[in-house]
Amino acid sequence: IDGALPTFSDPKTHENLLEAAKIIRDTDGVVGFPTETVYGLGGSSLNDKSVLNIYHAKNRPSDNPLISHVSSIDQLNRKIFGVDSGSPLRNIPAIYHSLVSEMWPGPLTILLPVPRNGTLSSLTTAEQPTFAVRIPSHPVARALIALSDTPIAAPSANTSTRPSPTSASHVFHDLNGRIPLILDGGSCKVGLESTVVDGLVSPPLLLRPGGFTWEQIKKMGGAQWSNCKVENKKAVESGEKVRTPGMKYKHYSPTAKVVLFVPTHQERSRESRLDNVIDIINRKASGSKKFAVLTGSFFPSGMIKDDRCVIRSMGESMLKIQSNLFALLREMDEAEEVDMIFVEGVTENAEGLAIMNRLRKAASNEVISF
Ligand code: TXA
Ligand code: MG
Repeated sequence: IDGALPTFSDPKTHENLLEAAKIIRDTDGVVGFPTETVYGLGGSSLNDKSVLNIYHAKNRPSDNPLISHVSSIDQLNRKIFGVDSGSPLRNIPAIYHSLVSEMWPGPLTILLPVPRNGTLSSLTTAEQPTFAVRIPSHPVARALIALSDTPIAAPSANTSTRPSPTSASHVFHDLNGRIPLILDGGSCKVGLESTVVDGLVSPPLLLRPGGFTWEQIKKMGGAQWSNCKVENKKAVESGEKVRTPGMKYKHYSPTAKVVLFVPTHQERSRESRLDNVIDIINRKASGSKKFAVLTGSFFPSGMIKDDRCVIRSMGESMLKIQSNLFALLREMDEAEEVDMIFVEGVTENAEGLAIMNRLRKAASNEVISF
């Protein structure tokens, strides 16, 4: 499952990794680092003070639990379960075995029971009986975790409620002055967060759609995952106790107001659907100083004729839209300084489920079908 650990020939890279690893291992400090999904804000999962510093740096409510990142199954066993011998998968329930062997290292997060005499800071779990863990595939992330030989608790490295960061400059924008160091590993390929699954309940649940699709989980997880259900949003909104506490917070929001268009009326003509969208945009943007339209496969690039309007394509495929999305929302905010963003939604299957999950949160209540 783990594969070989990455090595870096550039001495400066190695030096930077060692400096970050030392902060994680020997201090209560936190660092920004790249993963294949989004940048993380990492500190030791084993140290209460480090975990408090994470919550503090990003202004995150501490009832929202964190994912622990490990570099190998061996490290999970040694450092979180505190045992050194036996078969590698002994601490991972059988229901997860095919998922982790297919998807780790990678954007899959699983819930495990908190070990009774384990070492994990209870602040990472926000008093849940379970903790979340994944092995990221990004070579810088894995090297950092391996060099510090410490499980790293890491939420996305944005200020709470902002879109997750997919480049080091996004992290710098949000956390400059609040953390000592950011490792720059370029842009994140996946572009949105890991898929969070709970195999400890029956039927198993998809708690957060992410880098692996629901279809992939159902197909690659083995028989029990074929009837995996998606955690339903209504329970979250009504304030019931939920299994992914993070789902109840406002998330992924740019400063600009986001209006999301959702494709539904396939039976109407293309022209009438488009005319309707154009009317709505013109009306809603009447008081705007500058606004953006983010297009997918349906909205044409010349649809709005207005000097105040920036029109941008989100990408030609679902995978590209997924990897561009957060960067584009930030660019509209931070560089273009628009006050409204109109977004063409995508169909909610495959990557579209995770994309629309993030877009619906960014848009709060401004969702219009077309
Ligand atoms: O891709 C990712 O997962 C990124 C990178 C940095 O690895 N991390 C990330 O972390 O997105 P964060 O903290 O933004 O999201 C963690 C999600 C939240 O929705 C949280 O509520 C859920 O995982 N979670 C963590 N522990 C949990 C637990 N014990 N039970 C249920 N949900 C849990
Ligand atoms: Mg986050």
